[in-house]
Amino acid sequence: MVAARITVNGKETPIEPAPAHTTVLDFLRDRGLTGTKEGCAEGECGACSVLVARPGVNKPTDWVAVNACLVPVAALDGQEVVTSEGLATAGEPGSPPVLHPVQQEMAVRGGSQCGYCTPGFICSMASEYYRPDRCAHPADATATGTGTGTGTGTGTGVVDSEHGPNGFDLHALSGNLCRCTGYRPIRDAAFAVGAPAGDDVLAQRREQSPPGAAATEYTQDDSAFLRPGTLAEAVRLLGERPGAVVVAGSTDWGVEVNIRSRRADCVVAVDRLPELRELRVESGHIEIGAAQTLTELERRLDGSVPLLAELFPQFASRLIRNSATLGGNLGTGSPIGDSPPVLLALEASLLLAGADGEREVPLADYFTGYRQSVRRPGELIRAVRVPLPLSPVTAFHKIAKRRFDDISSVAVAFALDIEDGIVRKARIGLGGVAATPIRALSTEAALEGRAWTAQTVEAAARVLRAEGTPMDDHRASAGYRSAMLGQSLLKLYARTTEAVSS
Ligand code: FES
Ligand code: FES
Repeated sequence: MVAARITVNGKETPIEPAPAHTTVLDFLRDRGLTGTKEGCAEGECGACSVLVARPGVNKPTDWVAVNACLVPVAALDGQEVVTSEGLATAGEPGSPPVLHPVQQEMAVRGGSQCGYCTPGFICSMASEYYRPDRCAHPADATATGTGTGTGTGTGTGVVDSEHGPNGFDLHALSGNLCRCTGYRPIRDAAFAVGAPAGDDVLAQRREQSPPGAAATEYTQDDSAFLRPGTLAEAVRLLGERPGAVVVAGSTDWGVEVNIRSRRADCVVAVDRLPELRELRVESGHIEIGAAQTLTELERRLDGSVPLLAELFPQFASRLIRNSATLGGNLGTGSPIGDSPPVLLALEASLLLAGADGEREVPLADYFTGYRQSVRRPGELIRAVRVPLPLSPVTAFHKIAKRRFDDISSVAVAFALDIEDGIVRKARIGLGGVAATPIRALSTEAALEGRAWTAQTVEAAARVLRAEGTPMDDHRASAGYRSAMLGQSLLKLYARTTEAVSS
């Protein structure tokens, strides 16, 4: 097996002798690339953002921004990484480097003050700069600019508080925090960047295939990071090493390593297994490979499952969604994961692959207790199956202290069939009100077969307030959680009646 190595800013570098748990952040900084900063070490500030060449959605390769503090460097064996240092290009001999267009806009528009967050913003911004479908329709990228404005690019034509005339989606920066600038100059810089020039090396790189997923066996000091090449190999490995930690995007395990100093004898990565990365639409269901990132899913599904489309922007930050997977969110068994309420409302089931083959488990039967499930040791979540047809009336309400990039206090997902004014079917998934995500079965019964009227909904909202066993904690009181449950149904009703009357 080839020794583990990583290409950073075009230069191939051996990963040895870094310990197996070493993060990309520490690896880079130990090698002098100190532009990549540590702010929080738990995926919440984006100071550590770097670009990774990944399989693209609209082109062979996308430049994807990820939190370097969460990803083990061994997970990037054979991969290509670009840091903020690698974005600038060499100038004339004796002259300083030529800034990347994103760096240039940040500099001239005052997007950097103390500078600590800046390299992370630059990498997230560069990822959006290179997003192939950002430049769908011509528009003048300098329209909102107040500075020198090098932008001459094109945009999607959708211009609002979150999208620039150059097609720049500010959600690309939702995982980056800045304590100094107040964000407006950063937004100005984002909305001023143009399209990549024809000779832009990173833009050209998008036209070539990304690096394949290397089969990795990286061991240092009795600790191993393993990346099997196939599902069969992964299942065999987990049978041999039952204590192994399974990771996909490492957005959960990375926090355990950094904040709780946890170490594993063996980590097994499943995020590049081809069997876990398929998306199939069959006549009776959609099958979603469990190891696709949420960003990939958002782009591949392209709104075809409206309830999931409503979930994606509210699931952590873009930086996290670039690594996190549905399989990981379900695998941790957290009662406040964002995807389970949605998938419960969609009546999803999980395809669990193990040494004895594959079995299908309805998600409603999957969780058995706090962070516990029916998944057996050695089993992997291969795919999530969503039955068709989808219920037409859907909503996802995440109640959290911040609108984006926060952990929910309560989450509620609705999927209703309403025909001729009668609720034919109601499916409601709840998070944050019990030791596990749950279906609101009593509320579903209070709605089904009844007219979709204010009277029915008010009665059902009272039932919904009593679902689960909400607790008081630092995020919210039990009373608040209960109140929000009922309110979310009233809000859905108001939305549907507004739609009818408008
Ligand atoms: Fe804060 Fe990585 S250091 S997200
Ligand atoms: Fe100081 Fe952003 S410029 S934290």
